[in-house]
Amino acid sequence: MPVLGIDIGGSGIKANVVDLDLGEPVGKRLKVATPQPSTPEAVAGAVADLVKRFDVDGPIGCTFPAVVLDGVTMTAANVDESWIGTDAAALFREALGRPVTVVNDADAAGLAEMSYGAGKGREGVVICLTFGTGIGSALFTHGVLVPNTEFGHLHFRGFESVEDWAAASARDREKLSWEEWGSRVDEYLRYLERIFTPDLMIIGGGVSRRFDQFADYIHTRCEVVPAKLRNEAGIVGAAMAAAAAK
Ligand code: BGC
Repeated sequence: MPVLGIDIGGSGIKANVVDLDLGEPVGKRLKVATPQPSTPEAVAGAVADLVKRFDVDGPIGCTFPAVVLDGVTMTAANVDESWIGTDAAALFREALGRPVTVVNDADAAGLAEMSYGAGKGREGVVICLTFGTGIGSALFTHGVLVPNTEFGHLHFRGFESVEDWAAASARDREKLSWEEWGSRVDEYLRYLERIFTPDLMIIGGGVSRRFDQFADYIHTRCEVVPAKLRNEAGIVGAAMAAAAAK
C-alpha cells in the first residue's frame, strides 16, 4: 500500500510516497525549504502545500526533529521554540484533513534501517545516528526501539550538546576536513560505545553517502556501517509509523 511520508528538518522538508512492501520511496521526491522562522503555523502551511502535490489518499506519517510524545513536540533544538508543547499531530491533522502520525526523525530513520536497511535482521543493541543540522539517535535492543533517546544532546568536551561539535553542520560551519570531522565522530562514537556496548552503529543523514571519506578515522570495537536508505530513511520510517498507527 502506498503511504505518504514527510521528513521535516531544520532546513528542509522532504516528502514522497513509500511502498511499504518494498520499503522504498516510489514517487518523485519533493523538497521545499523549511520556512524561517519555522513556527508551527508556517511549517504546517508548507507541509499542506507539499501534500497537495501528491495524488495519494490515506494516513500520513511525519517526522519532526524533536522529542515527540503522543504527537506532542516537547523540545525544539533546531526549530522555532514555539514548537515546545505543540500538539503537532493535531496541528497537521487539521491542516491536511487526514490522520497524521508524528515521530522523532531519527527514530523514524532507525525504524526504516532496522526493517529494510543496514540493521535488517540484526539482534542485540543497535544505535542509529543521523548527522545533519543536529545529531539524531535511535536505540534498538533486539529490534525494539527505545524512543526519544537524544544522544545528540549529551554534554561533551565542554559543549552543551555534542551536536554543536560533531554534527554535519559543524563540518560545514568550521570548514573541517574529513579527517578532522571523522576524528570527532570517532571520539563521540567511542564514548557512546563505552556506555552502551552496542553490536552495531549505523551512520545516517546526508553524510552516509560520503561514508568512505571518513570511515578510516573510526576506531570503535563494534561494527560501524552507513545507512542503506541513505537520506530517504526518514521518509520511509514516517510512512511506516503512519501504517502502524492504523
Ligand atoms: C533534536 C533531535 C533530532 C536531531 C536530528 C536534535 O537537535 O533534539 O530530536 O532527532 O536533532 O534532527
